[in-house]
Amino acid sequence: MTTTKALRGRAISFRGNPFEQPAETCLVHHDDALVIIEGGVIEACGPYAELRHTLPDGVVPIEYPDAIICAGFIDAHVHYPQLQMIGAYGSQLLEWLETYTFVAEQQFADAAHAGRVAGLFMRELLRAGTTTAMVYCTVHPQSVDAFFAEAERFNARMIAGKVLMDRNAPDALLDSAQRGYDESKALIARWHGRGRQHYCVTPRFAPTSTEAQLDAAGALLKEHDGLFLQTHLCENPSEIAWVRELFPARASYLDVYAHAGLVGRRSMFGHAVHMHEQDFCTCHQAGAALAHCPTSNLFLGSGLFRLFDAVDPKRPVKVALGTDVGAGTSLSQLQSLNEAYKVAALTDRKLNATQAFYLATLGGAEALYLDDRLGKLEPGYDADLCILDTRATPLLGFRSAYCDSIEDLLFVLMTLGDDRAVRATYVAGECVYDRDRAGEAFRY
Ligand code: GUN
Ligand code: ZN
Repeated sequence: MTTTKALRGRAISFRGNPFEQPAETCLVHHDDALVIIEGGVIEACGPYAELRHTLPDGVVPIEYPDAIICAGFIDAHVHYPQLQMIGAYGSQLLEWLETYTFVAEQQFADAAHAGRVAGLFMRELLRAGTTTAMVYCTVHPQSVDAFFAEAERFNARMIAGKVLMDRNAPDALLDSAQRGYDESKALIARWHGRGRQHYCVTPRFAPTSTEAQLDAAGALLKEHDGLFLQTHLCENPSEIAWVRELFPARASYLDVYAHAGLVGRRSMFGHAVHMHEQDFCTCHQAGAALAHCPTSNLFLGSGLFRLFDAVDPKRPVKVALGTDVGAGTSLSQLQSLNEAYKVAALTDRKLNATQAFYLATLGGAEALYLDDRLGKLEPGYDADLCILDTRATPLLGFRSAYCDSIEDLLFVLMTLGDDRAVRATYVAGECVYDRDRAGEAFRY
């Protein structure tokens, strides 16, 4: 029996970077496409009329009328333990961390609690069309086990790690340089490269790690191939002033990380709202990436990320899109793009729909050095897909009838759309979420 599957509908993909080339040369669009999937991988994608003859006997395409098939979204910065305090009222970063975040994260000492939240989080990601995320767990190793176990259940490609903190947080959330190193090492042995899982060394941010802990994080990166690194950078003025006090010998916030060997390929710095030209140059030279987290930066009043300065073709820095839940206010990357457009507008720039969808898919994959397998509908790419319903709500259906180009339609989707617009999500070729399935929408 064949295991081939085929999806039919409108489809978009990318053949270039729309921050470097004209958008129309980067967007690939088929009005009526066939996506053929075999063994969890895309075997072919192109016009239905050309590919239908290649389908094995008996394979009937799953039809998605009034929908757009695209690569699954990538969320490059998100905290799963913060789901329980998303939308907490009233403060900027440092007070918000103390009042809400550090309180919620202490509950993840309980593996059962971690398991429940990880289960909800994974389903909420898939319901939002996100198939790969770079995720902060808590300081507790069991929070990482709970997360990867859930990712593995859905066979989703995920990147995550144990938070490292050895100062300036409640005692219950502190490890030490040695303990953080040992626990990370054990988690790397257990999860890194198992199935589709990747480990990410995760010092929370400079204020909560001593120099010894940052050095230990750098040692882990040196000792294992293909690890990722995530942390926070230049998010808020008070935070930046604090880093200056804590590390008076360093030239800048980013230099604190560079000194510990944390700035390189597969390093992802969240926020980067208040950056100097030298910081962008350092990231460019190192191949390090920034996560643009617009809903969070607006919610906490952190500031406006200068996207077009970051990706300046004279020294482009890789940029991905992050929700940063629970400071971010939605797990939907459509909502992140909605806010990213407004942030660009406030900095006198225009983010077009091609650039926006690229950021949420192929741009994220490039920032993570996973663009050989994620972010495109092309033969050999992982069949991680999101099916967007252009008639998901009465208003979307009404409005989309007035769109006369794919760019218009994508722009309206990112402005009006959210999780309701996700008709289905495929992970490694399996439909893991189907909004309209009778009974249970999730496969597991
Ligand atoms: N900086 C250090 N920790 C955090 C966090 O959990 N969220 C955000 N937005 N910024 C941080
Ligand atoms: Zn964050």
